[in-house]
Amino acid sequence: MPTRKIAVLPGDGIGQEVIPEAIKVLRVVAKASGASFEFEEGLVGGAAIDETGGPLPDSTFRLCEASDAILFGAVGGPKWDDFPHERRPERGLLRLRKELDLFANLRPAKCFSMLVEASPLRRSVVEGTDLMVVRELTGGLYFGEPHGIERMADGSAHAVNTMSYTSREIERVARVAFDVARKRRKRLTSVDKANVLVVSQLWREVVTQVARAYPDVALEHVLVDNCAMALVARPTQFDTIVTENTFGDILSDEAAILAGSMGMLPSASLGGRGPTPERGCALYEPVHGTAPDIAGKGVANPIAAILSAAMLLRHSLNMAADAEKVEAGVVRVLEKGYRTADIRQDGTTAVGTSEMGDLIAREVLALY
Ligand code: IPM
Ligand code: MG
Repeated sequence: MPTRKIAVLPGDGIGQEVIPEAIKVLRVVAKASGASFEFEEGLVGGAAIDETGGPLPDSTFRLCEASDAILFGAVGGPKWDDFPHERRPERGLLRLRKELDLFANLRPAKCFSMLVEASPLRRSVVEGTDLMVVRELTGGLYFGEPHGIERMADGSAHAVNTMSYTSREIERVARVAFDVARKRRKRLTSVDKANVLVVSQLWREVVTQVARAYPDVALEHVLVDNCAMALVARPTQFDTIVTENTFGDILSDEAAILAGSMGMLPSASLGGRGPTPERGCALYEPVHGTAPDIAGKGVANPIAAILSAAMLLRHSLNMAADAEKVEAGVVRVLEKGYRTADIRQDGTTAVGTSEMGDLIAREVLALY
């Protein structure tokens, strides 16, 4: 097998702590499976601003382009909160998504049976939750033109962001979502605000057209406000959800409550630069962000990063069987009662970030 190159961008806050644990597990996979991985680190976010003045240095972008996959931590933090819009750490991530054309963001939210009590929601509500949010990632309000703030001489101001989508952008993410749904329970919920927004009317029209090629997948359209309510009231009714960028940002954070903790949620951002959306250089990141309140303490949950590494194996390296071993390793460690602080319950054993990484790495190795 050729050596696979993985760009490693830990970024800021707990990104610096959880990404080494994901690499620990990937090294075990390489050793046990005979695959060969080369890891090369790049600066991004606040860490890059401090070193180079900007959130995404050219060298990092080139490294990403030349890699088979990108393992990304998180960006941002109070230190850079007052930076001008274009120079904020988040711009580094947004530019990567846009320039690599990573338009399909897969965010699975699963409630592991042993973590049911970690969710603030009742057992009867969350038990059995297993859903996938497919968030469009390179369009909508995040990137629409025009955007900007106009300052008037009288001291007042006017700010604009534009929600904009072409039918092509909608169609390609819809296809990815239908493909995902087809491999799951064959139910797709398309989320929009078609009762108010014309963008959503086009969204609904295009998704309905794409559905014709997927007669085996049941499609429903749900308004975003109603979806937000249903997600916490009846989460098990959902299988695959597809939605535009901003709605997906919000709904995927809400879905974290179903999984017990943000620290459990991985993601994959697949792109259009490869022969298929699954074969371009894709980016894998935990959904949790930099968590400045716990950063540097060694207590962050590395499971989201480790599950992101599993998605990397599955989607970018065609190593689905190995991805399953990583996922099974995580389940075994949870079954044995080890917990980081975010998912702590009575009767479990408290562990820190690197101990959790060690435990999972050991279980994964034992599965070969
Ligand atoms: C996410 C984050 C990002 C987003 C930020 C960090 C730019 O909230 O990945 O959900 O808004 O997309
Ligand atoms: Mg978000």
